Amino acid sequence: MKPLIFTQHASADLIEKITRQVKGEIAQCENHEFPDGESYIRIHNECTNRCAIIIANLHQPNPKILPLIFLCETLKAQGIKSITLICPYLPYMRQDIQFKPGEGITSRFFAKLLSTYVDRLITIDPHLHRYDSLNEIYTIPSTVIQAVPKIVNWIKENIERPLIVGPDNESEQWAALAADIIQCPYIIFEKNRFGDKDVQVSSSQAGQYKNRTPVLVDDIISTGRTMIKTAEALVKEGLSAPVCIGVHAIFSDDAYETMKQSAIRNIITCNTVPHQTNQIDLSELLAAEICALN
Ligand code: R5P
Repeated sequence: MKPLIFTQHASADLIEKITRQVKGEIAQCENHEFPDGESYIRIHNECTNRCAIIIANLHQPNPKILPLIFLCETLKAQGIKSITLICPYLPYMRQDIQFKPGEGITSRFFAKLLSTYVDRLITIDPHLHRYDSLNEIYTIPSTVIQAVPKIVNWIKENIERPLIVGPDNESEQWAALAADIIQCPYIIFEKNRFGDKDVQVSSSQAGQYKNRTPVLVDDIISTGRTMIKTAEALVKEGLSAPVCIGVHAIFSDDAYETMKQSAIRNIITCNTVPHQTNQIDLSELLAAEICALN
């Protein structure tokens, strides 16, 4: 029997592309919000012994979590065999340590919660910094897809003589891989964050690459300050305004407008989070993993 596909806040374009490739059945799920803000959910499909796939966009996660839990509980109550969560952007990965006494390590709490309700997780470039693998915090099987091959294709098609730039140590995993595939140089900046929008980057070896087009590659664009500060530093060192590529287009508050007014030439993102900068389509990678299930 075809898997039942449920969607929560995912972009219509991504859903359409995935479902076309996966050949699942789009589920009929009725959701209603009562005047008091509480939720009603009803699934109209026969669920017994079927597999469910939930494609969920979980950026700005808090208001989206309870509806997701209610959906999972309803599916289980209807006899669903398994629930696979396709979560292109996996939130709550950045608090991966107690930076100050008394802090909650929310990445662990969130992993525990999701592991309770879903049977499998498929995601794209989660922020694995101090964790080597999702298995350290998730107790369900998980698949991590890398966006780099698609990012590399975009760079090859659009940029001549690139210099790949990672704005901080964490980004070296993507920058180094991209540079290796393209066969071009890469540099990594040192970043210090003093507050949500207070970021400083230290100068790098960029000056020797003035004849190349800098291409910043990072996983998350949230406030945009990491990209903005790195772009400023590159221009200060005599390079041209960089192209910025982010996997996850979070763009909190005024991030996008502020970035457009900065020393950045162009902003490109993958379609893990719907945004007007989405130019790199990852639906094929997601669909391939879904088709490989079972
Ligand atoms: C953190 O280290 C991530 O890899 C990104 O560099 C970070 O989340 C970007 O955040 P923002 O856009 O707020 O500077």
